[in-house]
Amino acid sequence: MNIVVGVTGGIAAYKSVQLVRLLVKAGHDVTVVPTDDALRFVGLPTWEALSHNPVTTSVHDDVARVRHVALGQGADLVVVAPATANTIAKMAAGIADNLLGTTLLATEAPVLIAPAMHAEMWRHPATTANIGTLRDRGVHIVGPAVGELAGGDSGPGRMVEPEEIAEAALALLTPRDLDGVRIAVSAGGTREPLDPVRYLGNRSSGRQGVALAAEAAARGAVVTLVAANISADVLAEARHPSIAVVPVGTAAELADAMADAAVDAQAVVMAAAVADYRPAVVSDRKLTKEGGGVPAIELVETPDIVAGLVSRRRDGQVIVGFAAETPQSEEELVERARRKQQRKGVDLLVVNEVGWERGFESAGNAVHILGDGGEVVATAEGTKREVATAVLDAIVEALAPLRRR
Ligand code: CTP
Repeated sequence: MNIVVGVTGGIAAYKSVQLVRLLVKAGHDVTVVPTDDALRFVGLPTWEALSHNPVTTSVHDDVARVRHVALGQGADLVVVAPATANTIAKMAAGIADNLLGTTLLATEAPVLIAPAMHAEMWRHPATTANIGTLRDRGVHIVGPAVGELAGGDSGPGRMVEPEEIAEAALALLTPRDLDGVRIAVSAGGTREPLDPVRYLGNRSSGRQGVALAAEAAARGAVVTLVAANISADVLAEARHPSIAVVPVGTAAELADAMADAAVDAQAVVMAAAVADYRPAVVSDRKLTKEGGGVPAIELVETPDIVAGLVSRRRDGQVIVGFAAETPQSEEELVERARRKQQRKGVDLLVVNEVGWERGFESAGNAVHILGDGGEVVATAEGTKREVATAVLDAIVEALAPLRRR
């Protein structure tokens, strides 16, 4: 997406360097529009180097492409950080005496501002009135925070941290197409105990399922995340007021938790890697070598959880299965997935190729998404969050006719 970052003349401009980095890192095309005053704090080459786009403050540059309005027209989001009292006043009055001003007047995209000024200026009735005007116009405001200000003062007026501004900005770019939709997601890998210290497990980190939960919540869903043995750092991405985490260990616990979560869910996503077999006997005491010989471990099959969920599917519920395959070709991958989709009866099957070096524990993923006729409805490759976006797009599409009923 195209994001314009307006930077105005406050000391907090140095923090917007990090903001621009975060937005570029999130995959967006960022154009920085500083005011002349802002360039006294951070120079033009810094903004150009970080954004990989040309930077100017003047409405008279690039006139052939009507840059003074083109930037605003082409923007999907405009962020002003820091927004000084002066720029806030100019925005409220609609003054367009620089490139940032014309860009703001020419845009129909959402606008987010991060005010930064001294506490007295923030509290001044003029600023209060201007902020009120901007709010009424639908401008989004993040901060200011209370804390230490330039010159040793403290109070309200400090620009919030760049991470918080980036989060607010990215939230504005996320569609709210799952508003109020209940989604149950399983993630991670189950562990089937042999004795109190050993288990049969798998290499699933839970990252893909956690990314699905986080992206669904960002799009407005109310999520139950059934988390099988996911480490705290991976689970941290799922910290969101609309995500309830239910930790589980074994396939049996995961089956119970998903059965509960599925009761009132419109979408059920089985991203967890579930053990197909578990030890027939779990020893109360640690198995030792004292008995002599190599123990033979008898296994019994675990119930197919997703098949159980499909057999109890509510009217209008979309059920999504995952498959990790080790095929020799793309044709074989899709063919195996097609058979699995038919066998499991899921509405959507997300299939990815895994191997010693691929899929598990890594940050990226590449998937094919099959519809209920076994056809490939989408493919996606990228970060696990990007793959989550594609899976949720497919869920939104599958839910659409069911929600209209
Ligand atoms: N699954 C499940 N219960 C199980 C095993 C798997 O619900 N006991 C779900 C997984 O969460 C996933 C889908 O079924 O959504 C496919 O998992 P996979 O292990 O690929 O399927 P299997 O039926 O075990 O097929 P395979 O013989 O290829 O292992």
